[in-house]
Amino acid sequence: MSTTQVTRALFDEVMVPNYNPQQMVPVRGEGSRVWDQDDNEYIDLTSGIAVTSLGHCHPALVRVLKEQADKVWHLSNVYTNEPALALAQDLTRETFADKVFFCNSGAEANEAAFKLARKYASDHFSEEKNEIISFVQSFHGRTLFTVTVGGQPKYCQGFKPVPGGIHHAPFNDLDALKELVSDNTCAIVMEPVQGEGGIIPADPEFVRGVRELCDQFNALLIFDEVQTGMGRTGSLYAYMDTDVTPDILTSAKGLGGGFPVGAMLTTDKVAPSFNVGTHGTTYGGNPLACAVAGEVLRQINRPEVLEGVVQKNALFNAELEAINAKHHIFKEVRGKGLLIGAELVDEWQGKAGQFLAAAREQGLMILMAGPNVLRFAPSLIIPDEDIREGMAKLEQAIAQLLSTAEAD
Ligand SMILES: Cc1ncc(COP(=O)(O)O)c(C=O)c1O
Repeated sequence: MSTTQVTRALFDEVMVPNYNPQQMVPVRGEGSRVWDQDDNEYIDLTSGIAVTSLGHCHPALVRVLKEQADKVWHLSNVYTNEPALALAQDLTRETFADKVFFCNSGAEANEAAFKLARKYASDHFSEEKNEIISFVQSFHGRTLFTVTVGGQPKYCQGFKPVPGGIHHAPFNDLDALKELVSDNTCAIVMEPVQGEGGIIPADPEFVRGVRELCDQFNALLIFDEVQTGMGRTGSLYAYMDTDVTPDILTSAKGLGGGFPVGAMLTTDKVAPSFNVGTHGTTYGGNPLACAVAGEVLRQINRPEVLEGVVQKNALFNAELEAINAKHHIFKEVRGKGLLIGAELVDEWQGKAGQFLAAAREQGLMILMAGPNVLRFAPSLIIPDEDIREGMAKLEQAIAQLLSTAEAD
């Protein structure tokens, strides 16, 4: 493939315009470093939106993928396969879950979770018990069902009619939730830390209260851990750092370390409602995906990696606070583990995109979580030197933006 012809400009010619990618085109990555077509080097504090949690081209993942590529790529669910069974065994051993359903993305894992919750309520209670409660500013994917359950109306605009029976309560507000929950509620779904909504952690007592309400009304508690899972917050799954256990948990993003795979985890009590023929997906349990995810799990689920996430969070916070002491640009720095948000001060609200572009100019890849929050979600094993160097680049980007704004 000639890189002289394949440029960012080609995107506008041949791609559906639902994305607006940055101007540089990355071609190669190693650890927390990425190079573009012109061989410019970047520090990657995004890991592809919390996906490449072991960095780019981790040798153990490359080895496992190549080994599986020489064995079998795909079989369909008419047959099972060794990597899928081994991964399901590992996930059930390491979590609350007894049963696993594999798919390809976070949206698909959530779609399965919402369908399972309705089917379970229909099997055990009544067809009327079909209401799902989610939270304002939540994000659960882009299928019509998941986008409707998500708490950001802008993503539903133009797509009506959308599925019914879905309600939204303000996040971290137990009293408001009590107003909405009823015997017709089949599930309450929450992110332990709202990701796309602005990196907003759930309060511990709120999480406890949600579990209690689920128990009181025979509703299932679904934890969407698509972004928080697989070590991102310093535990294998974020629920492990709370007092509660969900009935269903969804995982994707970091699960495959960059190879597409999703999973819905649940219990022996709930799983039978997905009996033969009720749900499925062609690629679910794909051997390549499951072999890689199995190795990701082995690599991440180790005390030194998970403790490292907590230590690196402290380093990030210290660096961001130091930048803030100098430039007074952040209203709040928050998050958990290596899912960190820095909310911009009022004058800069709505302008997070400018910081991404300025960072790119300095050789730094960062994210936003909505228009007001800079998001950092690097590899869980990013070297401390890369964090420091990345933060130095961020400071340069901020200084440059502020000086340009002053000059205007
Ligand atoms: C919490 C959460 N749920 C679901 C999704 C959707 O995942 P996917 O894009 O893999 O469908 C995302 C993606 O950002 C997410 O952050």
